[in-house]
Amino acid sequence: MPKVEITTDNLTLDVNDGYALIDMCEDHDTSILFGCRDGACGACMVKVVKGAENLSKMQDDEKDFLETMAAEEDERLACQCKVHGDVVLEVSE
Ligand code: FES
Repeated sequence: MPKVEITTDNLTLDVNDGYALIDMCEDHDTSILFGCRDGACGACMVKVVKGAENLSKMQDDEKDFLETMAAEEDERLACQCKVHGDVVLEVSE
């Protein structure tokens, strides 16, 4: 069972393979914020500290949006990610 650690919240959760990060955050009290829930606002941007390879592959729309936002290489939109293995996340500033 994959583990998701959110260092900002000092929280580690066990989730099912393929679980959406947005669902995890709705079920638990995390500091990851959501707006559009559709990859278009950037509210949910997180830094992937470890395990980027264990998140669902980035689609073109997310990639284009992150480029527009001048995001760092290790940043993802939480609303677009599903978990397939252990990851460590930090809330982007
Ligand atoms: S909630 Fe808007 S981009 Fe994720």
